[in-house]
Amino acid sequence: QIVPVILSGGTGTRLWPLSREGYPKQFWPLAAGRTMLQETSWRATGPGFAPPVVVCSESHRFLVAEQLREIGQEGGQVVLEPVARNSAAAIAAAALLVGEHRPDAVMWILAADHAIKDVPALLGALEAAAAAARAGRIVTFGIRPTHPETGYGYIETGAALPGTEAGGHAAQAVARFLEKPDAAKAADLVAGGRHLWNSGMFVATARTLLEEFEAHAPSVLAAVREAVADASRDLGFVRLGKGFAAAPSISVDYAIMERTALAAVVPCDPGWSDVGSWGSMWDITPKDAAGNATVGPVALVDARNCFVRSEGILAGVVGLEDVVLVVTDDAVLACRRDRAQDVKLLVEKLKAEK
Ligand code: GDD
Ligand code: MG
Repeated sequence: QIVPVILSGGTGTRLWPLSREGYPKQFWPLAAGRTMLQETSWRATGPGFAPPVVVCSESHRFLVAEQLREIGQEGGQVVLEPVARNSAAAIAAAALLVGEHRPDAVMWILAADHAIKDVPALLGALEAAAAAARAGRIVTFGIRPTHPETGYGYIETGAALPGTEAGGHAAQAVARFLEKPDAAKAADLVAGGRHLWNSGMFVATARTLLEEFEAHAPSVLAAVREAVADASRDLGFVRLGKGFAAAPSISVDYAIMERTALAAVVPCDPGWSDVGSWGSMWDITPKDAAGNATVGPVALVDARNCFVRSEGILAGVVGLEDVVLVVTDDAVLACRRDRAQDVKLLVEKLKAEK
């Protein structure tokens, strides 16, 4: 059985004011009827999967437990971080815990903030990824880029890996992994046509991950090892020890993927999108004939290509184009759709003024 590991510790700043520290985007039903965490967990459910390991902030333990219970996903482990130390430390914790009893089990590490249109296509790609993972690889899913996005990792594909053909897919070696290039470099890579986006999901055995952490991020591994040794465990919750805070805050992409020689990629097209900003929410939400995507009680006149969402009170828009309007109980966001990435600047400003 494959062990799903769901990273659910991000704060989703760019989706303010819906996503808040106390209630980040992965706990909202943003792209479907179920929350993003539930959708993610649902993808990895069935006879081929063990119950999930969810890694999240201690402050979200009840949210996570409740949301898993709602979809009948009990029996897994919820790993609680005393402080956020980014994805490398979260993955190291999962690898140490899974490795205690199942060092050779294949782990499927999923981000809790993705929308996937074609789950069967993804599960096909997972078969090839699992085959490569059993052969000692750390496997990513490669998505054909559509624009020079700077927020993603870029993968240069290498030689095919024989013996990994499965589910209509096959794995290739990664010639080079480059995390979050600048705009000029991203434009180059997309124009060159040889690079794929890293989807942000990874497939590997606990054994492989731990060896690569030892080789490339030993200080992350040492701190997390101590936190796991000191963890208090009860009823499916694993509360990591204080030593977790000593782990350097670095993402797995920089800590491991840019450095390892074991990276592999399965190219695939599962209708993937990273639900990172209101701009990408507009991309994935069904639109009316004028290109407007609306959620909740909303009235529009002569609006074009807008994203308008209200959580409660009625929101009206007249004569606007390419605008994002998000209304919640206690805050309103209005912004140009092409500035949606900069909502994080607003949140930083609010934090600084607090
Ligand atoms: N538990 C835990 N703790 N989870 C975390 C933490 C943490 O401290 N920090 C981030 N995560 C989770 C997020 O909730 C998300 O599910 C996942 O890890 C990825 O983190 P992001 O912060 O969203 O990363 P990113 O979007 O900038 O970049 C990654 O994803 C891109 C695709 O969406 C990278 O893997 C890129 O290479 C990739 O292209
Ligand atoms: Mg992300």
